[in-house]
Amino acid sequence: MSKSDQVFVGAIDQGTSSTRFLIFDTAGKIVASHQCEYENHYAKAGWVEKSPVEILDSVETAIAGACRRFNSLGYEASQIKAVGITNQRETTVAFDSETGAPLTNAIIWNDVRTQALVRRLIEEAGSATRFATTNGLPITTYFSAVKMRWMLENVAAVQEARARGTLRFGTIDTWLIYKMTGSYVTDVTNASRTMLMDLKTFQWSAECLEFFGVKAEELPEIRSSAETYGTISEGRLEGVPISGCLGDQQAAMVGQSCFDAGEAKNTYGTGCFMLFNTGDKPIFSKNGLLTTVGYQLGPQATPKYALEGSIAVAGSAIQWLRDKVGLIGSAPEIGILSDSVEDNGGVYFVTAFSGLFAPYWRTDARGCLVGLTQYATRGHIARATLESVCYQTRAILEAMRKDSGTELRRLRVDGGLTNSDQAMQIQADILSIEVVRPEMRETTALGAALAAGLAVGVWKDESELRHVAQSSVTAFWSRISDDKRAEMLRGWEKAVERSLDWAE
Ligand code: G3P
Repeated sequence: MSKSDQVFVGAIDQGTSSTRFLIFDTAGKIVASHQCEYENHYAKAGWVEKSPVEILDSVETAIAGACRRFNSLGYEASQIKAVGITNQRETTVAFDSETGAPLTNAIIWNDVRTQALVRRLIEEAGSATRFATTNGLPITTYFSAVKMRWMLENVAAVQEARARGTLRFGTIDTWLIYKMTGSYVTDVTNASRTMLMDLKTFQWSAECLEFFGVKAEELPEIRSSAETYGTISEGRLEGVPISGCLGDQQAAMVGQSCFDAGEAKNTYGTGCFMLFNTGDKPIFSKNGLLTTVGYQLGPQATPKYALEGSIAVAGSAIQWLRDKVGLIGSAPEIGILSDSVEDNGGVYFVTAFSGLFAPYWRTDARGCLVGLTQYATRGHIARATLESVCYQTRAILEAMRKDSGTELRRLRVDGGLTNSDQAMQIQADILSIEVVRPEMRETTALGAALAAGLAVGVWKDESELRHVAQSSVTAFWSRISDDKRAEMLRGWEKAVERSLDWAE
């Protein structure tokens, strides 16, 4: 095939700490990409926000950068047949339908300003899990409906837009698709993180809307994860359809080809999220996990569900050590420092900066560094930071085993932290199961590209997607004794006890 006959699919990966645009060939290989790192604003303790305009700008910059590289390789933007979007989930935008302008900053998923509101809502509801059999989620600071309610109660511009009938809410996928194509839509995976979608009908739930005080006309239309939502109206990709959309964790599930019930992946990004495919039926957790939509690859396709274990802090703890504490100069140093010590030296770091998510769901927990003696070094603190996400992953795996009745024998991993062999060895030591890292680690972006390409016929079915997503792997196995592991876990559990109730 000549160079000009080749076709490509693009993916916008709009994450919590960076935005990327990647261009894939039909074999799933990355031919060009561009990344913009950015900072969220922390206006007060517990507040995390970002201007929606800056988020959109970062997408445009990433597209321009990747397209320049693509052109320099001798390709034309017209060879990109579709674009998929994958995004940080739950982060909430409010905008005006008349001006198209945001009404306030986006509230990021890990913001805990709504803690008092959550207490009030739980009291009103009678229990945190009152709507869990409808929307799969507990009432907590994490999900969009609580952020919408906070905006409705506290932001004058949002109240005024409601009075005019021009208020529109959306998650990041909705905001980007709206600004890039004019369509006001979301996909089932993103909608399933708002607390407002009924997991059985895939429509906004009247009961949840009423409880949270949100109106149906203030929300986008819910669509599948693979269909054309609109075409890009300007810029280098003008005329290209946006035809794939998945929350980033669900996209990683597709990119890791977790298409069968019983398959699971764990993605270590700003936070860390394990998703376990439960097939055609939702499983409602008794052990602190979330029920969520895994994907629906086409309007007529059968939706797949997942159980999810969410950890609020993973890469963000390393960023914190680098930017706020100065313990390390660059992220990869954490592995080197951690390797300079034999074990954690009795130091534990519960990185509960945004409370503790699954399976604890304690918005009142706070970060806690314990077990320090004069013996402790920077190496021990670095190691305790890496161990923290690994212990939380173990707690989630345990909950998944109880909920699903299935013993997971291998865990597929991806995301920034998996570049560290040290971190993955610690993970295997703590889990005592096989930890499998694919060579192709851009699984989140690949998942969005696969959905977009499937919708426009670049790939024809799921078996082709599986083929494209295949990659060689590195496996990690535990190297420590059961006794050592038990001792470490005892220390972790004691440390978690110290972190609970702190903000009360
Ligand atoms: O639910 C939040 C999640 O989607 C954020 O992902 O990779 O930006 O930590 P990440």
